Amino acid sequence: MKALKNAIETRGHFINDEVLKVDAFLNHQIDCSLVDEMGNEFYEHFKNKGITKVVTIESSGIAPAYATAIRLNVPLIFIKKTQPSTMIDPAFAEVFSFTKNKTYPICIEKEYLKKGDKVLFIDDFLANGEAFKGTENLIAQAQAEIVGVGMVIEKAFQKGHAYITEKGYDLLALASIAGVKNKKITWADE
Ligand code: G4P
Ligand code: NA
Ligand code: NA
Repeated sequence: MKALKNAIETRGHFINDEVLKVDAFLNHQIDCSLVDEMGNEFYEHFKNKGITKVVTIESSGIAPAYATAIRLNVPLIFIKKTQPSTMIDPAFAEVFSFTKNKTYPICIEKEYLKKGDKVLFIDDFLANGEAFKGTENLIAQAQAEIVGVGMVIEKAFQKGHAYITEKGYDLLALASIAGVKNKKITWADE
């Protein structure tokens, strides 16, 4: 997605050879028209997959997931990182965070994801894929099926890309970074 790659190059920057800061349009301040365009790209790619639910993890995945779900005309579920006191019957999974070097629980109200649901998973970043693995676990517990994975930005040089594609999932990354050297990006498709 050209506008996104342009935003990454002009409004984002690598703080080291691994971590890309995009607070200006995605992770803190949100560029709503850019995110809306992301929703359109995901919609066009996944619209014929019979999707019944869009699933993301709070918090930065919510905006692009919303922009996609509203077009698909299906509900959006955001997986929680802390269990709300109002949750009645939660399912849990564990996620290992490389950036924080610790494991944290994620949870979902069982009622919202059921056997037969066809899920499109959307997230802001694909790095090591640990958040995706936790989500996969929750979706398996629900006996639902992942039919697509949409990532706004993937760092294809980390483990997540290979994990998802080797399992045969339909993965669309709107901006795919093949590598970074001296803070200069090499795009996977150029
Ligand atoms: P993984 O899920 O792919 O294994 O990655 P990891 O545990 O390392 O990621 C933890 C958090 O860091 C996630 O956000 C993820 O989206 C984010 N992240 C990973 N790589 C980058 C990067 O290069 N730049 C930025 N800005 N974020 C990155 P989170 O903690 O779940 O927070 P939230 O933003 O969704 O609330
Ligand atoms: Na995220
Ligand atoms: Na994030």
